[in-house]
Amino acid sequence: MSILDVKFVQGFIRLCNDGWLQGWHERNGGNLSYRIRPEEVEEVREYFHEPGEWKAIGTTVPDLAGEYFMVTGSGKYFRNVILDPEDTSCIIELDEKGENYRVLWGLCNGGRPTSELPSHLMNHEVKKKASNGAHRVIYHAHTTNVIALTFVLPLEDRIFTRELWEMATECPVVFPDGVGVVGWMVPGGRDIAVATSELMKKYDVAIWAHHGMFASGPDFDTTFGLMHTVEKSAEILVKTLSMSPTKLQTITPQNFRDLAKDFNVNLPEEFLYEKN
Ligand code: 13P
Ligand code: ZN
Repeated sequence: MSILDVKFVQGFIRLCNDGWLQGWHERNGGNLSYRIRPEEVEEVREYFHEPGEWKAIGTTVPDLAGEYFMVTGSGKYFRNVILDPEDTSCIIELDEKGENYRVLWGLCNGGRPTSELPSHLMNHEVKKKASNGAHRVIYHAHTTNVIALTFVLPLEDRIFTRELWEMATECPVVFPDGVGVVGWMVPGGRDIAVATSELMKKYDVAIWAHHGMFASGPDFDTTFGLMHTVEKSAEILVKTLSMSPTKLQTITPQNFRDLAKDFNVNLPEEFLYEKN
């Protein structure tokens, strides 16, 4: 038995490799975190080393106090996670105030958790509450086509949501709440974490202009699938815009309403506006 036989560890590694294969993780781009279930913590506890020093998270997440996370390391390459998970990722524990973390496993050659730890943890805190504890995965990727769109579309939730929905019939079923957009901000700090987690109260996806995307979900499959669906939709939009600035036909607001009825999803009217 090794920690690599534990199911959530395998799911974590597989997502990193799948993201790498999609081309979303140049160099050290992107990061991943998983909020570990109490019973899963017991499955991996025997592999923990002496706890490292408590270090400041850079923000406060009181609703995550005492929780454990598996997280990618800062500066680590997603393409290497499958080869050496113990070098490229870690398991951390938060203190009883949700202000500090310490490393219990991994980063065996040194280093620290992702520089986006404040965004990951603030998103986890918001999604834990919004989903009654169901959401456990926060995934950040440098998705090429979504990034390209942030140079040509207005940076508004309603525009991105509607344009992405129109690109594939299943899109509004996969992300019926829509997507949020954060204008360009310095990454890695508390300010962008606050802005992103504010959007995560409403959406499962937040786009960072000229940078990438954050996705949230209950498990690795759903979260990766969400990232994949949004990015594929963006790819279709990039191709469409490259062929022609206008569409000859598209999915109409009434088509969306009909879809919502048959697929039993609620599509907010704010995204079904008439275009001129
Ligand atoms: P890290 O290597 O610190 O995870 O940073 C990568 C990244 O994508 C920053 O937004
Ligand atoms: Zn990034």
